[in-house]
Amino acid sequence: MQTNRIILGDCCRVMPTLPPACADFILTDPPYLVNYKDREGRSIKNDIEADWLMPAFREAYRVLKPDSLCVSFYGWTKTDLFYAAWKAAGFRIVGHITFPKRYASASRLMRYSHENAYLLAKGSPRPPERPIGDVIDWSYSGNRHHPTEKPLSVLTPLIESFCPRGGLVLDPFAGSASTLVAARSVGRQYLGIELDPTYHGAAVRRLNGYSAGQAAYLDRERATSASVYYMERAA
Ligand SMILES: C[S@@+](CC[C@H](N)C(=O)[O-])C[C@H]1O[C@@H](n2cnc3c(N)ncnc32)[C@H](O)[C@@H]1O
Repeated sequence: MQTNRIILGDCCRVMPTLPPACADFILTDPPYLVNYKDREGRSIKNDIEADWLMPAFREAYRVLKPDSLCVSFYGWTKTDLFYAAWKAAGFRIVGHITFPKRYASASRLMRYSHENAYLLAKGSPRPPERPIGDVIDWSYSGNRHHPTEKPLSVLTPLIESFCPRGGLVLDPFAGSASTLVAARSVGRQYLGIELDPTYHGAAVRRLNGYSAGQAAYLDRERATSASVYYMERAA
């Protein structure tokens, strides 16, 4: 199987072509099912209907090695649907991670200022020697490559903790390849799948343009940039 690339396609069709038990760790950020649009009008495919959710996680479970882990971000307004899909696939819920932000993404009944992910197990993974905490500070990514771009600084500790060195990290909803860039920066193999040709193109450019380590450095730089200050003031 060819690794260290991002495939353009629907993960519900691409994952069935992958061998069983090929991934050491799955780290993914699927659509939150919220019909998201950013200020520039950028949107996300499959962000309304949930028909892809069960098949995608069924396949994710199949391609994950036994006794291994998956971390999936999710939209808290649709927790019930995500939970049902993970359980139906066979995953055990073994952790919940909160990412507090220094700014609010939206403000209505509350100032919404955190992201969430679940830690899901296939079988019984061995605990890491030094387990990381389940509260991980968020840094603003700048959303330069993708409207919901995840910061490398929150992805790398998850990869280092849950994927053996040299192992394969799979992201079936890869967007602009943040997971893949993070995996590469810490010496893991990577494989991504992305449905939208625009974001797939951005991901390919990003993977080709950055050498290992540079992307993480740039992300840290952006976290302290004026855009964070702006978001904090605007919240
Ligand atoms: C929340 S975004 C991921 C953003 C990514 N974490 C980043 O930092 O760029 C989810 C992505 O999943 C893609 N997507 C939606 N349905 C998909 C499917 N069936 N197969 C593959 N990708 C899909 C969307 O186009 C979108 O780019």
